Amino acid sequence: MSFLVNQAAIDFLASRYSCGKLTAPAPNELEVSKMLTVAMRAPDHGGLKPAHFVVIKEQGLERLSQLFVKAMTEEGADDAKLAKTQKMPFRAPLIIAVLAKTVEHPKVPRLEQIQTAGCATFSMQQMAVAMGYNGIWRTGNLVNSPIVREAFELTEDDELVGFLYLGTEEGTGQCKKPPVIERNVSYW
Ligand SMILES: Cc1cc2nc3c(=O)[nH]c(=O)nc-3n(C[C@H](O)[C@H](O)[C@H](O)COP(=O)(O)O)c2cc1C
Repeated sequence: MSFLVNQAAIDFLASRYSCGKLTAPAPNELEVSKMLTVAMRAPDHGGLKPAHFVVIKEQGLERLSQLFVKAMTEEGADDAKLAKTQKMPFRAPLIIAVLAKTVEHPKVPRLEQIQTAGCATFSMQQMAVAMGYNGIWRTGNLVNSPIVREAFELTEDDELVGFLYLGTEEGTGQCKKPPVIERNVSYW
């Protein structure tokens, strides 16, 4: 089977960038379901399907905010830090938390299973951009907080790969300059 060159897809892939300044609207239910379908197309050694997703919006953002504050309180954060933490989930109208649920496997190391969840995260960001939205993949120390991990029902084999913040880009896009690849590539 041969495919026509898809110049729009080429331009899109070459120009993608993240955006942390996000507002409503966010991808709707149907669009989220398309993003999740794309996420499940991520390369997956052994077909173990390690990536799991928690779609967080509306009251869920409040729940996440309370969770973050609880975790930071436990870590002894001061009032200023707690006030900042409380606002974090409201930086976007929609967040998808991506979990990697890894298993022992004779041929698929744990790292590869986590990488699959990472690819799923990036695929969802690209799909969001393709549908006219934008987003940013965030982690921060909270992904390792025992309180946050427990709330997402992670076992010791699992990882909270990140929070994909999603919405509509605020203001005008600041497309990144073309990347300089020479420093990062060698040829054999
Ligand atoms: C695993 C991972 C975790 C990240 N965590 C954060 C984060 O906590 N906060 C943040 O501002 N950016 C974080 N980033 C970076 C942004 O997602 C984004 O890549 C960066 O702002 C550069 O933008 P670009 O995607 O346009 O190159 C993370 C990226 C990755 C891959």
